[in-house]
Amino acid sequence: MVSTINWKDSKVSILDQTKLPHEVIYIDCTNYLTVVDCIKRLSIRGAPAIGIAAAMGVAIGCQDIHASNFEEFIKELQPVYKALVDSRPTAVNIQWAVNRMDAMLLKNRDKTILELKELTIKESQDILEEDIRINRQIGEWGAQFIKDGDIILTHCNAGSLATGGYGTATAPIRVAHEQGKIIHVIADETRPILQGARLTAWELMQDNIPVTLITDNTAGALMKKGEINLCIVGTDRTVKNGDVANKIGTYSVAVLASVHNIPFYVAAPISSIDFNLTHGDQIPIEERCPEEVTNISGICPIAPVDVMVKNIAFDVTPAKYITAIITEKGAFKPTDLHILSDKSIDFTKYRIM
Ligand code: MRU
Repeated sequence: MVSTINWKDSKVSILDQTKLPHEVIYIDCTNYLTVVDCIKRLSIRGAPAIGIAAAMGVAIGCQDIHASNFEEFIKELQPVYKALVDSRPTAVNIQWAVNRMDAMLLKNRDKTILELKELTIKESQDILEEDIRINRQIGEWGAQFIKDGDIILTHCNAGSLATGGYGTATAPIRVAHEQGKIIHVIADETRPILQGARLTAWELMQDNIPVTLITDNTAGALMKKGEINLCIVGTDRTVKNGDVANKIGTYSVAVLASVHNIPFYVAAPISSIDFNLTHGDQIPIEERCPEEVTNISGICPIAPVDVMVKNIAFDVTPAKYITAIITEKGAFKPTDLHILSDKSIDFTKYRIM
């Protein structure tokens, strides 16, 4: 598996996903603004990966701060936090990572500035390592839903390129493959940025996991013919009532799956669940530039000049279309998800698997 993001030689090294599948090139970020730019340009994308990037962005931003005491240090950090949080609005992982870095610093206010700078690097690396472990756990819980011979549809890229390790939606697929189950993945190409074609198909082929690429409009026809057994997707932000924001087109896949009685699973690390929001309508949805729709790969125009464009990057799938949400703590009915936010409840009693 190719590495998506790493802290290397005092720099944040980011695989430039805009160049995939043709070139494997890393961008060396020596300051937080370059990290912010990588997130905005989608050089790094996918909710957990941009959370890790935000943590490393805070760490690298800290290194340039000249402060003589803790209060000054935290004050200087505020523009770094803001630039990272504002870089993309839908995935909650950026805010989650910034909050975690901030909480860690507040707990260590008695340390020297030099020690604080070191601690931010360590915390961001811990976040990366935890993500790798969490991916594996999601994979183990989720693989129980995959049978030998299954054909699995996924949308966008919720793979290793979107995380630190096995991916979220692809983690059950990777574990099922390791367990020797014969499986086949159907990857939606995922217009307009083609994460399915450029990224999911590429990363699964790298690991010899059988994959077939389809256009987004093909999913319904395959479901009707009985050629899809289950769907697994990732999420940018899932809220307390089990509504799920994910790449535009996910909602259509979920409705189609429901009509055809096909199980529809969402793989979500708990860092992608926003327990502060109670309904999917409250999730901020990113809109991106028209050129992503009017041009293929930014170079080949396919629409009339100056045509009006709506380019909504994410949609919200209501909980009623979701069979289960697979987290690192097990799989749950979307309507039971809220129990994970209540420490007094024994969540193991609510596990589906
Ligand atoms: O715009 P992107 O490529 O960042 O969108 C990514 C997705 O929608 C993923 O499915 C989601 O972030 C989950 S990644 C594990």
